[in-house]
Amino acid sequence: MTIQRISTGIQGLDVMLQGGLIPGRVYLVKGAPGTGKTTLAMHFAMAGVENGEDVLYVTIEEPAENLKVDMSKLGFNLRDPRFSLIDATPTAERYVLITDFFEEFAGNIEKMTDAIKRQFQERNYTRVVIDPITMLKLTATKEIDYRKAFLSFIKSMMRLRATVLLTSELEKTDIEEYLVSGVIELKAFNAGGRLTRGVRIIKFRGSSFDGTIRPYEITDRGIVVYHDRMISLP
Ligand SMILES: Nc1ncnc2c1ncn2[C@@H]1O[C@H](COP(=O)(O)OP(=O)(O)OP(=O)(O)O)[C@@H](O)[C@H]1O
Ligand SMILES: [Mg+2]
Repeated sequence: MTIQRISTGIQGLDVMLQGGLIPGRVYLVKGAPGTGKTTLAMHFAMAGVENGEDVLYVTIEEPAENLKVDMSKLGFNLRDPRFSLIDATPTAERYVLITDFFEEFAGNIEKMTDAIKRQFQERNYTRVVIDPITMLKLTATKEIDYRKAFLSFIKSMMRLRATVLLTSELEKTDIEEYLVSGVIELKAFNAGGRLTRGVRIIKFRGSSFDGTIRPYEITDRGIVVYHDRMISLP
């Protein structure tokens, strides 16, 4: 039996994943600021749109207007009717998901889970992006509550049968990494004064994968992953 795979929207990354992501599961993309998490998430979202799917994208730190401008430069059309963008940044007028950023995280992720479930009453989204989850974790007070809420979020998403991509800026994402089905890491290196970028798959449940760190670039057309190259540090 061949397992069904869905594209991340980045060809070289699909190769590293042995054909793409296994649908209906939750994945985490982690990386320092500016490594391309949002761009990767947008590739994933738009691959769904191009495939005729409905996609839900929740932006938590970058205001929707900025996101539209920045991403259109890379050739992404955020105005496609199949693409639903929810602006959950603290300054947004449509302050939909997070009513109080400094509230305990467990309460927040529950609200967010409920809000996403409500969105599914309007449309049957097959892909969901939450970019990033960082603040939600930083405002958590009790680790055990966070863990429970995060697991309950994953279960809810699986019940909705959506493939979910979360991003995080945090280096330490232990709990999330245990609970999600796959983790992709984006890294920037200083190679002899030059910026070098590398992508690595840390885990991918239910599949083998290329565990080598592979170079990638952010170009005018978004992220390009060179799945057949190695990173050479001086
Ligand atoms: N056309 C382009 N060519 C090269 N690099 C680009 C281009 N457009 C954007 N970039 C780079 O992409 C990076 C931003 O990517 P992105 O917003 O996806 O990162 P991020 O990891 O989400 O960042 P943050 O943590 O701030 O949210 C920046 O470093 C920017 O310089
Ligand atoms: Mg970002």
